[in-house]
Amino acid sequence: MNMKKRIISLVCIAALSLGLFAGCGKKQEATTEAPADGKKEIVIGFSMDTLKEERWQKDRDILMARAQEKGVKILIQAANGDDNKQIAQAENMISQGVDVLMVAPHNAEVAATIVESAHAEGIPVLSYDRLIKNADVDLYVSFDNEKVGNLQGEYVTKMNPKGNYVYIGGAPTDNNAHLFKKGAMDVLKPFIDNGDINLVYEQMSKDWQPSEAQKHMENALTANKNKVDVVICANDGTAGGAISALAEQQLSGKVPVTGQDAELAACQRIVEGQQVMTVYKPIPKLAETALDLAIKMAKKEEVKTNSTVANGKIDVLSYLLEPVVVDKDNMMDTIIKDGYHPFEEVYKNIPEDERPAK
Ligand code: GAL
Repeated sequence: MNMKKRIISLVCIAALSLGLFAGCGKKQEATTEAPADGKKEIVIGFSMDTLKEERWQKDRDILMARAQEKGVKILIQAANGDDNKQIAQAENMISQGVDVLMVAPHNAEVAATIVESAHAEGIPVLSYDRLIKNADVDLYVSFDNEKVGNLQGEYVTKMNPKGNYVYIGGAPTDNNAHLFKKGAMDVLKPFIDNGDINLVYEQMSKDWQPSEAQKHMENALTANKNKVDVVICANDGTAGGAISALAEQQLSGKVPVTGQDAELAACQRIVEGQQVMTVYKPIPKLAETALDLAIKMAKKEEVKTNSTVANGKIDVLSYLLEPVVVDKDNMMDTIIKDGYHPFEEVYKNIPEDERPAK
């Protein structure tokens, strides 16, 4: 950028942050990024909580590839679980004049500020995978997250309709963690009510940390003298933590553990027998749907939705996708068939003569 342009853009950013005139940042994008056909390039911002779990790296990579395919520009920033950083990053994208802001919030409540700042500049907000609470969110694109919990609960109650159950949930600041728990508990309730299932321990895990989940599992085992029959973990990261704690007591592979995300490590544990299932959420479908809808929002075209989800303030127009159960038996027909992980990676610790036919 030459000095003149740098000064103009600095003046623009300053003017925008003082609220002097809207659209300034957009002009900045248009002048530097105008495509050859002369139309203004669409710019989508994506503010992410984290890139810690493997799935979020997929989200980022697929969004970037899809944006290139569609000829739009995407700005992506991740906040490492820090609310103030996420707000600052989102505000920076707003000041750069993005046409639509997608947000995967670290904290469902705190992120309402981001929606307000975006709306003040006329920028619509798409809540990505995780719902922003108590705000006028324009669109929510995710999976049916209560169903994720239903699938986990149904799987283990079929396997083990009686016994001592442990529930290890996700981050209390993430609305999804509450939906996953509700979905699982709805399935367990009749079993708990008739006394077949004893919910002997339940805890959420700060920031979805596997180390927290491991501590919860250690506590659950100690408190119940190792008499635990089923562990429902909200995702694969927490499942990994719980399985480490079970392994310390030589119980790994003996107590069924659930998960979610179809992470490579979880798929390996499933075929090796340390985890019974995961819930597979095809991330390419989520990322592509979200980006396509964001582009429609940018062009002010009609956006098709298939649901609404209450966020404490409004019923948010939503597009929800279907999650899928994955276990040892359908690994080939789901994860491998979709190319979500390569066969050689998933089965790498299984002797060749014991692997399923490709
Ligand atoms: C949830 C998300 C899960 C999992 C978790 C931890 O909101 O739906 O797929 O990744 O966060 O990041």
